[in-house]
Amino acid sequence: MTLNFGVVGAGGIGKTHIERLMQRVSGATVTAVADINVEGTKSYLQEKNWAIKVYETDTELINDPEVDAIVVSSWGPAHAGTILQAIEAGKYIFSEKPLATTAEDCQRIVDAEMKHGKRLVQVGFMRRFDEGYVQLKEAVDSGLIGEPLLVNAQHFNPTVPDSYTTDMAITDTVIHEIDVLHWLVNDDYESVEVSFPRQTRNKFGHLADPQIVRFETKNKIALEVQVFVNTQYGYDIQCQVVGENGVLDLPEFSTVRLRKDFKVSTGISEGWNRFTRAYDTEFQAFVDTIQEKGQPAFPSAWDGYVAAVTADACVKAQTSKQRELIVMPEKPAFYQE
Ligand code: NAI
Repeated sequence: MTLNFGVVGAGGIGKTHIERLMQRVSGATVTAVADINVEGTKSYLQEKNWAIKVYETDTELINDPEVDAIVVSSWGPAHAGTILQAIEAGKYIFSEKPLATTAEDCQRIVDAEMKHGKRLVQVGFMRRFDEGYVQLKEAVDSGLIGEPLLVNAQHFNPTVPDSYTTDMAITDTVIHEIDVLHWLVNDDYESVEVSFPRQTRNKFGHLADPQIVRFETKNKIALEVQVFVNTQYGYDIQCQVVGENGVLDLPEFSTVRLRKDFKVSTGISEGWNRFTRAYDTEFQAFVDTIQEKGQPAFPSAWDGYVAAVTADACVKAQTSKQRELIVMPEKPAFYQE
């Protein structure tokens, strides 16, 4: 059976999701798109030659009987309203990160989903589907390096626009490490500290860059994330796990190796196209798991809530310059994998 998708928000990433659902994900198609920019959306779909209905509001799209599953790829502040309506209508939901922009709204979504009685929501933390991270996790889980003790991660961007602020280093950027690192080492966060080393001259004055975010888990694993969003040279994601008996590194982003002009070189990606395959895989998992189990894959709405609570503590630590505790209720049985 083909799953009919309705996409809310056809901007930068929304368009790539429409394209992957129309062209690459099997068992899926797009029947409707909603965007406040109706004209822009119509002309984009016309250019593509796709006869897909266009709505102005998420409510019309959610109520369309030809829509089985909703992709939420609008601006972050609009996510919670769409997701709560879609849960009420009993539709499956693939939400881009963030699930919602506040922990309270994430909690509302979790409560609504549990009340509904069946998991409907998958959150777009695509790194869990990236081949490199999957290999890293398999190696950690196999016990190859004994127990993990330290994690060193880097999240580097070439540049960011003027509108990017210091807290966005957490809520837009480190949010991906927040999700993937505790999953990688099978542990929960306990506390976080943020520090500001020597600052680059290649940044806007209002922004702190780089920053160092240090987490400690319940089992005392030390996880350090260096976030540097004006590196000038590329989008570079690194992750190293130090264990009792060895060290594991995330495989490099792979491109062809070029021998030319007396040099050997490989490429570094420019942006989130680094994870194109992971986006495809996360959508395929969403579709396949719904077909097989009647529920989407993980990460769940609970993971979206955990990320929001953790991000709040990080943002607090940016200003307090102190160790902040990350306090979370016990994970409900409803969300156990
Ligand atoms: P964008 O600004 O390019 O697109 C947002 C689109 O949503 C626009 O077309 C806008 O008109 C539409 N929109 C806004 N409010 C709406 C509403 N209430 N109803 C219907 N349409 C509405 O933003 P972008 O970069 O595509 O990001 C969208 C979401 O995807 C964000 O939550 C962002 O954090 C997330 N994202 C995730 C990435 C990842 O790596 N997983 C990468 C890039 C974005």
